[in-house]
Amino acid sequence: MAETILVTGANGQLGKSLQEISSGFSGKYHFLFTDVDTLDITDKAALLRVVSDEKVSCIINAAGYTDVNKAESDVEKAYLLNETAVANLAEAAKSVDAFFVHISTDYVFDGTATEPYPVDAPTGPVSVYGKSKLAGELAARRVQCRGAIIRTAWLYSPYGNNFVKTMLRLADTRDSISVVSDQVGCPTLALDLARFIMTVVDNKKSENQMDIYHFSDKGKISWYDFTVEILRLANKNCPINPIPTSAYPTPAARPSYSVFDLSKSEAIFNIPDWRESLAGVMPKILHHYENNIR
Ligand SMILES: NC(=O)c1ccc[n+]([C@@H]2O[C@H](COP(=O)([O-])OP(=O)(O)OC[C@H]3O[C@@H](n4cnc5c(N)ncnc54)[C@H](OP(=O)(O)O)[C@@H]3O)[C@@H](O)[C@H]2O)c1
Repeated sequence: MAETILVTGANGQLGKSLQEISSGFSGKYHFLFTDVDTLDITDKAALLRVVSDEKVSCIINAAGYTDVNKAESDVEKAYLLNETAVANLAEAAKSVDAFFVHISTDYVFDGTATEPYPVDAPTGPVSVYGKSKLAGELAARRVQCRGAIIRTAWLYSPYGNNFVKTMLRLADTRDSISVVSDQVGCPTLALDLARFIMTVVDNKKSENQMDIYHFSDKGKISWYDFTVEILRLANKNCPINPIPTSAYPTPAARPSYSVFDLSKSEAIFNIPDWRESLAGVMPKILHHYENNIR
């Protein structure tokens, strides 16, 4: 009989990407896709009821408070979703001995490193969002359920709002674009992350501990480099100016270096290069962008 996987935040970028690949697992896994309208992760009683009623063997938490700038002034809600609700989910997972996959972020680091961050590197978030996500990691670990914390970075997809769609819009509406060139990291196609998550589920779901993984696509680039490639693939000729972070103040500070050591994830998954993933998905992103599909 197929095992049941509960996915929260299923209407977000990662949630929709998991929906995209779910048919490839029919017979093996039955997916229960939920979002805030059907299962609010802040409602602990509802979570405990669903995992028991539906005999859930794995929870993938794709929900969260993800607006990095807004979190600076919406602190309580950021912690409610990124810490308290994560504890709820971990406790629900523990109550039925389910495997809990939680998604975290490169923003748990301060970005002062000069070498890729290994999974056990010291954390030091510099924004409310990063602090709330680190609090969520710690909350999940405190519950001592089985599972995986997967830190990812610079997520984009055809869905919702993200950096790629913003650059397309700016290229269509401005005479030129200025983009920061002194923050480096690597973009992650949400579909690649979804595939990696399912590899972790397949390979690790009977393990007893809570493990940490780092996952982005492969490479090391700046937001400026990313924009150059986005507009090249989209055939948009808008001039792009590289600028320092100091010339683009935002409410939340960003780590200037966000490169992950991917060796632990590469041992179980063939991670694509960011350029290859972007080129593959660009026609679909353009279709969503041009037709205003969320
Ligand atoms: N985006 C990035 O660049 C990035 C980078 C690193 C890590 N991450 C992490 O990756 C994960 C997925 O990110 P994403 O970009 O796919 O997020 P997203 O597109 O913002 O999706 C999050 C989903 O969670 C839903 N949600 C909000 N409150 C909820 C609640 N109380 N109960 C259930 N669902 C709720 C949201 O609904 P509404 O839209 O209605 O609020 C949305 O559908 C998050 O944990 C994020 O922190 C993201």
